[in-house]
Amino acid sequence: MRVITGIKQPFVGEAFAPPDKSVTHRALLLAAEADGTSLIRSPSRSADCQATIECLRALGVGIRLRHGHLRIDGLGLGALRAPARSLYAANSGTTMRLLAGILARQLFDSILDGDASLRRRPMERVAEPLNALGACVSTTRGFPPVHIAGRSLRGGRVVLQTPSAQVKSAVLLAGLGAAGVTRCRVPVLSRDHTERLFFRLGLPLKSNNLELHVRPVDRIPAFEMRIPGDPSGAAFLAGAAAVIPGATVRIHRVGLNPTRTLFFRYLERMGAEIAWSPDAPDPWEPGGTLTVRGADLRAVRVDPADVPLLIDELPLLAALAAVAQGETSVRGAAELRVKESDRIAAMATGLRRLGAGVEEHPDGFSIEGGSPLHGADVDAAGDHRVAMAFAVAALAAVGITRIRGAESAAVSYPGFFDVLDRLTAGFSPHRGEIT
Ligand code: S3P
Repeated sequence: MRVITGIKQPFVGEAFAPPDKSVTHRALLLAAEADGTSLIRSPSRSADCQATIECLRALGVGIRLRHGHLRIDGLGLGALRAPARSLYAANSGTTMRLLAGILARQLFDSILDGDASLRRRPMERVAEPLNALGACVSTTRGFPPVHIAGRSLRGGRVVLQTPSAQVKSAVLLAGLGAAGVTRCRVPVLSRDHTERLFFRLGLPLKSNNLELHVRPVDRIPAFEMRIPGDPSGAAFLAGAAAVIPGATVRIHRVGLNPTRTLFFRYLERMGAEIAWSPDAPDPWEPGGTLTVRGADLRAVRVDPADVPLLIDELPLLAALAAVAQGETSVRGAAELRVKESDRIAAMATGLRRLGAGVEEHPDGFSIEGGSPLHGADVDAAGDHRVAMAFAVAALAAVGITRIRGAESAAVSYPGFFDVLDRLTAGFSPHRGEIT
């Protein structure tokens, strides 16, 4: 449980974005099958990425954390070792779905399982396209545990229906070790970290965003990289400033990959001021500093076509909507119901308790904001993004809010509540804390 007291005085502070979870998962998975030792600098220390590390260790991969960096002794493409027991992905959908793409083409059987939340998340979306490439992946009536009979994949063409970067990435990772070319058509643009990492490592991928072709390779080279900051984590710090008119937060090392920054554009539309200062150009994953200044926010209508690129920030957007003047509406976001929790229901319940007018739709929500919020007891439903979104709404509420299940923030952003406390109390982190 975490207690947040509403604040009246604008604060000024600085913070570093936490390292990116999506990029860390991908770097770990590619390093595990690389030839030789890879070095991942400043990896995400999130519970989700720890789940990927533990699964890879159970598959025989040597992984050491030293001075905040990870060294991974790759076993070579297709050379992971049969695990002694089922692999536990904890709360992490990314671990389970991406790893399924890799396990599908190892020559041993495996089982992927997870916690109670992950066991409620749909897995047929990843089993079906992998099976079309020649894999033998079966779900438990659509959900985990996922059973994988490893075998050689033939490649082929898949047309994905789900707007999911995880599913796309599973197909690309599978395709690296298939016999022939893998062609993948995706319905919409989604985060493209897998593609960027393939290009960086010289892996043979062609992409026009919606049509991706990957040719098989014999080996993945070992590599060294620094993980960019997580824009989805930074978004909560930006949101904290946004809800307090006149508050300012400067967030360093934010990943500015264009497939991840749409939320900040929406924040500007709602009235927050953002100064964007890109770092020196990085050909792979751009980054920079964002300075966000709070204002009297106004409601916004989210274009359903924008939903896939905003998906992780929609709980936060709901919290901001509760503070913003007018009616905010989000439709076309049924995916929110099958995330770590039913995020539409969880946000609606908590925001109503704080005093906002919320209407739930099967695929989104409408929120009438602008009337004063008051502190209350809310439940994060064990969901990290819901917990952090409530913290932002609670800052703008009068009185005390208790967030049950706030520890779940560590799933993507360990230390979030401490950073938030420090920021709102007017302290900034020491540079030395960041590796
Ligand atoms: C992720 C993709 C998204 C996102 C998740 C991380 C990834 O899921 O919600 O937090 O790293 O590929 P979907 O691909 O299911 O939309």
